[in-house]
Amino acid sequence: MLSNLGRVTIDAKAPRSQSCGSMSSPDDVRPDPAGSAAARRRPALQAAYALGQGARVLAYWGQYALSQRLTTPVKPKRPIEGSGPGLPYVIRDLRDLLERDWRNIEAGLYRPPHDLIEAPWRALAGARRYLRDLPRVEQRRHARRHDEVYRAPPEPLAPEDLANEGDYPRYYLQNFHYQTDGWLSAESAELYDHQVEVLFVGGADAMRRQALVPLEAFLRSRRSAHCRLLDLGCGTGRFLTFVKDNWPRLPVTALDLSPAYLEAARRRLAPWRATEFVQAPAEKTGLPDASFDVITAVYLFHELPPRVRVQVLTEVTRLLRPGGLFLFVDSLQKGDHAPYDPLLDYFSVAFHEPYHSSYVSADLEALLRDAGLEPGSVDRAFFSRVMIARKR
Ligand SMILES: C[S@@+](CC[C@H](N)C(=O)[O-])C[C@H]1O[C@@H](n2cnc3c(N)ncnc32)[C@H](O)[C@@H]1O
Repeated sequence: MLSNLGRVTIDAKAPRSQSCGSMSSPDDVRPDPAGSAAARRRPALQAAYALGQGARVLAYWGQYALSQRLTTPVKPKRPIEGSGPGLPYVIRDLRDLLERDWRNIEAGLYRPPHDLIEAPWRALAGARRYLRDLPRVEQRRHARRHDEVYRAPPEPLAPEDLANEGDYPRYYLQNFHYQTDGWLSAESAELYDHQVEVLFVGGADAMRRQALVPLEAFLRSRRSAHCRLLDLGCGTGRFLTFVKDNWPRLPVTALDLSPAYLEAARRRLAPWRATEFVQAPAEKTGLPDASFDVITAVYLFHELPPRVRVQVLTEVTRLLRPGGLFLFVDSLQKGDHAPYDPLLDYFSVAFHEPYHSSYVSADLEALLRDAGLEPGSVDRAFFSRVMIARKR
């Protein structure tokens, strides 16, 4: 299986070498909310948005509250300074995020997600799977057992694969978040998005979509079909579906070290063309120099040891064309939004997030500069930091 590392599956329709150019992009049909047809449709769309997002938030809040009842809090090894801002504050902040998401859609910065209203049977199946797995996560959390994936690797990760450290770095072989099978099974890939949404009470997708705002600004004056985007640590491909909702002809490369997550991404992105999938470490992709106009990393960096963050940024600089855009979405850092600082501390210790506490205090701007990138805007979206940088 490990011979697949670095393997590239290329959609034959993906353009390979044209210039990204700087013209308007006639190939992407952009929403035109100011136009009369769009204006007529707006009330219906707004109602659909309110219904779809309202149902999501209620469902995930419900599961969050139920999880709180079914589990017992972990006592942190070291005391946490201060306390979180309380539920009403977080609810208001989530409402602000969704209002902002809607305003961006209304302004035509991006389209509503293709699955704005989730099929109830799908939502129920996700909830059942999540609740069935919860006791296993709880057991691991209280036993502080986060090395199962290393000691008893899930099929088809055979023990002999572990002998070759170069294939799966040791830091990767952990039960991050105490999740079943770490990153390395189809079951984990099926559970992942749901778990993240429960953690962020239905706000995770809206946080990811905030990255579409700087992406739209970058692509506005370019031929998107001639640009190339790479998503590092793509997971199950959720963010890339939002990219494809808006720029269906933009060639995208989904990269992840987990074959199971990559397979889930491949299935999820099947409706779109111009996609390719690479199983490789983000710090050593094996992809050609200066081959991308945009590189994204969504919730990847807090999962990486500090030295690997530096290596990934060096790789980003190598892979970007001059003037290219690096688009980063990840956990807030300490000091980004003071009321949430205690929650960031709790997150680091209560879930198995071995590199989160070094992430929250890292000087990201300095790391970007050292790697040859010019840091740009930083934006807060609920619990996320949305940051851009350009290759000089
Ligand atoms: C927290 S998930 C984020 C997934 C996705 N980007 C999202 O928006 O939810 C982290 C992902 O990064 C992948 N990953 C972690 N370390 C990696 C590395 N060194 N190289 C490539 N992928 C990595 C994991 O397999 C997992 O799919």
